[in-house]
Amino acid sequence: MEVCVIGTGYVGLVTGVCLAEVGHHVICADKDESKIKMLLEGKCPIYEPGLEDFISKNIKSGHLFFTTDVAGAIKSQDIIFICVGTPPLPTGKPDLTSLDDVARLIGKSLNGYKIIVNKSTVPIGTAKRVKKIINENIADNNGKHEIDIVSNPEFLKEGEAVHDAFSPERVVIGSESQKAIACMKQLYEPIISQDFEYAKKNNTDKKIPIIITDSTSSELIKYASNAFLATKISFINEVANICERVGANIRDVTFGMGLDSRIGNKFMRAGIGWGGSCFPKDVRALAFTAEEYGTPANILNAVIQVNNYQRFRVVQKAMDMLGIIEDKIIAVLGIAFKPNTDDTREAPSVTVINKFIELGAEVRAFDPIVKKCPPDVDKKVIIAESVYHAASNADLLVLVTDWDEFKNMDFNEIKKIMSKPNVIDGRNILDRGKLAGMGFNYKGIGI
Ligand code: UDX
Repeated sequence: MEVCVIGTGYVGLVTGVCLAEVGHHVICADKDESKIKMLLEGKCPIYEPGLEDFISKNIKSGHLFFTTDVAGAIKSQDIIFICVGTPPLPTGKPDLTSLDDVARLIGKSLNGYKIIVNKSTVPIGTAKRVKKIINENIADNNGKHEIDIVSNPEFLKEGEAVHDAFSPERVVIGSESQKAIACMKQLYEPIISQDFEYAKKNNTDKKIPIIITDSTSSELIKYASNAFLATKISFINEVANICERVGANIRDVTFGMGLDSRIGNKFMRAGIGWGGSCFPKDVRALAFTAEEYGTPANILNAVIQVNNYQRFRVVQKAMDMLGIIEDKIIAVLGIAFKPNTDDTREAPSVTVINKFIELGAEVRAFDPIVKKCPPDVDKKVIIAESVYHAASNADLLVLVTDWDEFKNMDFNEIKKIMSKPNVIDGRNILDRGKLAGMGFNYKGIGI
């Protein structure tokens, strides 16, 4: 099928690559010339394991194209995916400027029947909004071009995006048009039946559930899923804080809870809290929608509060250990919001680094992938070249991101080079017994 994907961020790029890999003809269009130039050379502008190989493979096979001519791509293709960013405004309401711009351009470029697919996470009611804007902007033919709108949310996780796109836990299609639903089913058929090279190689012979619903329910499935996952983490973090007070161990508590199949053991890792480009934005947006429609968002607001508090808890632990933070050297391990990504949006590292600097510490931050100071981090931070560079003469080491390489650090060496052997494990990935045995003053979260 002939597909156009507008926007080459995480969602757009992965969607385009995935649809090309299963056999469709995909044009990914973006107005950002430098990004398209990189992509045309087969280079991936984001760090996402496996993605670059699939980009070059599909360019070579002729299934994947990149262009800055967004209007041209709209004209030549039948199914148009909107994958542009919807970043949060200070109120929590998503900023729909890019989405509205794209809808206007689609209206102006229409030259026949098209299916317009909202893949970005968009506020409840956006399907109707996009349809209205497109119809208002149809330039020729007396505005008689037919369009159908589909909500088809993306559930990919950064760092595992390729696998999530090729082998999703479900495909959700929300539309008021039976014709569009039939087309979308055809588009997703190779993924639903796992009938393509990657699936066969990886033995993913599972059948992928497809959910057909109206566009509003589809939009809400996405928000409610992310908000529920964030709720699980905030809940377990609150229990972890109780563990610390009553002398329980959160690892044993979550293990015991997780054996109840109604609860499960996933997304139950206590720590410094959630961040990234989705959870913070989506929980705030759903709370905003609830308030806008006059229904309380008590749980959602508490989920956000608990998450903010969790970052502060780590700073509090540092104060307990060091007394005064001023003039202390603090090594922060991990800048990305989670492992296997270079994304630092709403990362817990940003909050704690800025707080430590505000309190007068010298902060040396190390991340295996992030090598530049993120835009919202105080420029006084020193980006270290290695764990050991960060830890040298440090009074405290704070582990913020659960990168695998932090599990295998040489703690004998670290003990030798640190000024004081203080460790805060914001992800509970280190061996508390071993570190305590080596003379470290160790604090985890809820253990
Ligand atoms: C999330 C959703 O998982 C995905 O379905 C959606 O499409 C986008 O948002 P992502 O933001 O890539 O994906 O990261 P995810 O792996 O879900 O982690 C989110 C945050 O929760 C991270 O900050 C992570 O460190 C934290 N987390 C996750 C925990 O603190 N504990 C856990 O048990 C799991």
